[in-house]
Order: sequence, then structure tokens, then C-alpha cells
Amino acid sequence: MDPGQLFQLYQELQGYVGWDEADPGRIAAVREAVRPAFPSIIDDFYAEIVRHPTAARVITGGDRQIERLKKTLLTWLSDLFDGPYDEAFVVKRFRVGQRHVEIGLEAFYTQVALSRMRIKLIDEISQRTASSELEQLATVVALNRLLDLDMTIIEYAYQAEFTAREQRQERLLTLGKVAAGIAHELRNPLNAVKTSVYYLLNARTATEEKIREHLERIDRQVGISDGVITALSRFAKLPVPNVAPINLCDFVRKTLEVNPVPKNIELELDCQETLPHVSGDAEQLQIVLGNLIRNACDAMPDGGRLTLRAHAPAGSTAGGETDQTPDRFALSVTDTGCGIRPEDLKRIMEPLFSTKTRGLGLGLALARAIMDRHQGELSVSSLPGHGTTFTMMLNVAQKSA
Ligand code: HEM
Repeated sequence: MDPGQLFQLYQELQGYVGWDEADPGRIAAVREAVRPAFPSIIDDFYAEIVRHPTAARVITGGDRQIERLKKTLLTWLSDLFDGPYDEAFVVKRFRVGQRHVEIGLEAFYTQVALSRMRIKLIDEISQRTASSELEQLATVVALNRLLDLDMTIIEYAYQAEFTAREQRQERLLTLGKVAAGIAHELRNPLNAVKTSVYYLLNARTATEEKIREHLERIDRQVGISDGVITALSRFAKLPVPNVAPINLCDFVRKTLEVNPVPKNIELELDCQETLPHVSGDAEQLQIVLGNLIRNACDAMPDGGRLTLRAHAPAGSTAGGETDQTPDRFALSVTDTGCGIRPEDLKRIMEPLFSTKTRGLGLGLALARAIMDRHQGELSVSSLPGHGTTFTMMLNVAQKSA
């Protein structure tokens, strides 16, 4: 935690509780009268902890630790009355919360302990100071503000520490998931390569045909491994899109060449040559469309129909006063496959989420990241048992003047 920022927050909170300029003086005016009561207040503080075994379990060093803690609390109390309430003061208050998190002390024990101490201190102020009732009241209000601020800073330390822990945990979990995904994806092709290499090294009477078959197998499996690594590195460093006008029909045809549709799937292409150009990085958008085509084909292992359709979105806005060209065009990919369950549909574009037995779960997350960088949109609708439609929404390229 940055000390400067912490102090800034403290000052803001001081304003919130109404801490005013006269408050430090009010606290200072009673400190010598209250100071002699500190030891008994501290004794009471620890006696109460010892009476509560669940609270006392954090005191693992017995009486010696309690004696040491009493000294720390004496410093804490003295600082409370002496001030100054500067950056160093606030950092020390924050440290109390951090230390408590480290030893596993729940925040509510600090709260009740503080509440107990507050009552004792107020009692001492009213008994040991000779000022008027009104002045005493003002002093008690100042003390309450000071203690509330202390508790807020301690709680803030708890919160910051827990958030940091949660983030560390989350990062570890993600790292574990990615590592497991990569291991899973690479193990199969590597095993296949290993068995083919073993065959090639040990087969005494291998025919030319067999040798070629195994070499081709190795080549295929290396290609699969390379694909996994490419997907990962693409995700890690996606370059800024190199935007240019794209002819939608050409773009769809080229993407289909690189991502051929299996023979048992009927392909329907609905794209009029007269459509306006859209703007984007063709190479990156090919990754998106390629992913959608491959997913659609995977959803129809027993065959079906794949429809690629370029069209003006429903309810689209006119781009200018002189013509009716919409600002955006949609490219939809529809399959007649198994569909996606509603609970999976919500998560389908999250990184590392996959409904397939194979796959890292990066394809659609990458597709969405690319569409976001194009100020475009990727949406999905699905009917389990009937099929799925993914729609890429692309911006129409600006006409040159
Ligand atoms: C108003 C409430 C409390 C205040 C102001 C307070 C204050 C402190 C301070 C100043 C420290 C030393 C922090 C450092 O290392 O810089 C500390 C540590 C500690 N506190 Fe508290 N505390 C409070 C409540 C409690 C309670 C209720 C318990 C036990 C149930 C407790 C147990 C401990 C323990 C075990 C340590 C670690 C001591 C060590 O390092 O050996 N505290 N506390």
C-alpha cells in the first residue's frame, strides 16, 4: 500500500467523520489525566482475550507474548493520544490490520476489543477530567472519531490483504488451468510422435509405405502441436489491427479455402457481390471466421448444413443522407448441430472455457478479443438440438472522398 495514497484516504475519511481542527487539541488536553489508566485498560484488554479461547488461539507464545503485546498496545494507545496524525501514524495503524491478517485474527475480534477499550477510555475521561460536561462531550466525540478512523484503517488493511490473496489465488488457479490445458493438448500429439519414432527406429522389416505413413503421422502431430503454440502466442500478443477495406465475399471464400468444410456437411453461401466493403484486418478477422467455421463443423460430426450469410443487421441505421447503406454489416455462421446449453452459452467466450473434450478454450475468447479491437461485436444464439448462429458485426469501410 502506497503511504501517500493511504494518508490521502485517511484525510478524506477525517472529513467524512467530521474530524475538525480543534479535535487534536481536545484529545491532547485529556491525555495526561487518562495516561495513568492505560496499564489497567491494557490488562483488561488481554484478560478478556484470554477469557475467549477462539480469540486467544492466535496468541501462540503464551504469557511472554502477552507481555510483549501489552507493550505494543501501550505504544498504540500513547500514539492515539499524542499524535501527530500524520502519514507515519496512519501507516502504523494500517500495519495493525496487516499483522492481524498474517496471524489469522478475524476482524470482528479487533472490533469488539476496540469497542471494549472505547468504553473504558470514555469512562476514564469522564472520571478523571474536571472540564465541563459540554467540553467532555466534545472530547468524547473527538475520541470516537479517532477510534472509528483507526478501525476503518485496520479494516481497510484486512480488505486489501484479502483482495491481494484472492488475486494471487485466482492467478494461480488460472495458471494451473492453462498449464493443465497445454499439457493435455500437447500430450496426445507427442505420444503419437513418440510411438511413430519408436516404430521407425526399431522396425526391422518396415516397408517404404509404412515408413512414409509414420513420417506423415509425425508431420501431422507436429502440425497439431504447432497449432496449440500458435493459438497461445496469438492470445499473448495480439497485434494492433492493420485495418483496410475488405470485400466480404472474397474474405469468406478465402477463409473457407483455409478451413475446408467436411464432405458430410452441406455448405450454403449467401453473399451478394454488391455488398459494401467492411473495414478490418483481414488476417485477424480470418482467425475469427475460421474459428466459427471449425466450431460449427465440430458441432455436426454426423453431417448437417452450414450457412454463411452476409447481411445488413435488423433495424440497422442509415449511414448517410444520400444513400441507405447501414453503418455495419453482419456475417453470420449457422450450423444445424447439437446446439449449446443455456448455462454454457453465457460462458462460451470466456478464456479457458470449453465444451469440447479437446481444446484449450481460447478460440472464441480470442475471436471476441479480435472483434473488440475492431469496435465490432461477436454474438451468439443457440437452440439445443437445433443449432447455433454466431454473428460477427463489422463496420462498413468509409467511402473515400
Ligand atoms: C483494538 C484492537 C487491537 C489493537 C489496537 C491491536 C494492536 C496491535 C498492534 C499494534 C500489533 C503489532 C503490529 C505490528 O507488528 O506492527 C498487534 C499485533 C497482534 N495482535 Fe493485536 N490489536 C488489537 C486486537 C487484537 C485482538 C482482539 C487480538 C487477539 C484476539 C490481537 C492479537 C494480536 C497478535 C497475536 C499480534 C501479533 C503479535 C506478535 O507479533 O507477536 N490483537 N496488535
